[in-house]
Amino acid sequence: MPYYRRLGLIPPKRHTLHRVSPGYKNEGIYYEEVVTTQGFSRAYSIAYHLKPPTRVKHVEPAGRVKVEVVPDLPLRHVHTKTGKVPTKGDPVTGRVPMLANADVVISRCRPAEPQAELFRNATADEIVFVHKGSGRLLTMFGVLSVRPFDYVVIPRTTTYRLEFDKGVEADLLVIEATGNIGFPPRYLNPDGQFRLGAPFAERDLHGPREPLITDREEDTSVLIKDGDRLTRYVTAHHPFDVVGWDGFVYPFTFNADDFEPITGTIHQPPPVQQTFEAAGFVVCTFAPRLLDTHPDAIKVPYAHSNVESDEVLYYVRGRFGSRRGVEEGSFTLHPRGIPHGPHPGTIVVSREATRTDELAVMVDTFRPLGVTRQAMELDDPSYPKSWLD
Ligand SMILES: [Fe+2]
Repeated sequence: MPYYRRLGLIPPKRHTLHRVSPGYKNEGIYYEEVVTTQGFSRAYSIAYHLKPPTRVKHVEPAGRVKVEVVPDLPLRHVHTKTGKVPTKGDPVTGRVPMLANADVVISRCRPAEPQAELFRNATADEIVFVHKGSGRLLTMFGVLSVRPFDYVVIPRTTTYRLEFDKGVEADLLVIEATGNIGFPPRYLNPDGQFRLGAPFAERDLHGPREPLITDREEDTSVLIKDGDRLTRYVTAHHPFDVVGWDGFVYPFTFNADDFEPITGTIHQPPPVQQTFEAAGFVVCTFAPRLLDTHPDAIKVPYAHSNVESDEVLYYVRGRFGSRRGVEEGSFTLHPRGIPHGPHPGTIVVSREATRTDELAVMVDTFRPLGVTRQAMELDDPSYPKSWLD
């Protein structure tokens, strides 16, 4: 969770009358909504609505989102080229699941249309990594600007519309987390502040800056997802009718180019690149950085058998020094229990290099990941044998 933030009009004490005249139905108040996490035990925010947020007119089933994992795939490395995954749907309905387990679903999305209706993920926090595109996330918390290479972190139960500017087609990596998305606790001091030396800090986290007070008494459709079930709610007024809020729960962005890489004289392990974590997985940012400076340093990662972890890399930008054959939008999955490492020739080629311009997002899971049917349709079958000379 990010740190405390407040925006707009809030009363001096929580759970007290927030007066307005005349107010909805002449009741003279704004209506409090407390958004909590983990029951009432962890971070929360308190928002103040023009009208009660509970005014629902219709509830109807809206189908299912099935994640089809391919059964009986042998234990092997996987490379899928998703840079040209077909454009379809919108920033919500156009998501194509690629890898999944009980803790996380990783999808690609190249939306063909603007978002058709408001969306709310009731049971998963989301990270929308913006590979391409600029725009804004509209929520009851206000307007949040979005730019390329932003991680857009959207807490569960946030109703939103993700809008992109015309001109550049949006290209998204979407990570849905069953657990709450947070920062590595070791980055924070006991006072809750990012430590000096952490690879990013409060100034790199951007929350909504402008309120978005929408006062419209009109039927408004909200698509709600909980697990694989979709439900359509029609509310009697637009839900973005918040005049003010404060707390620790709100959508925010962190731009991958604001990640300050930690480097050494010899290779540093992936935890130095950790950015987020949730139950069952971590997200790391492989940012452009200086390479190791020891005169005999091997400047690409050593071969390793990752134990109790499946490693996913999503290649965003630049040339990836240890890999051959990957391109922008490629995924590699290096599963637990079998070794992977630099491709032949890359150790020698990197000897003279002093820096790398690669940008990649890594997702390491602790439970095995399933590969979806859509991912296998983009499979590079030669990848498991690509370490042969
Ligand atoms: Fe690895």
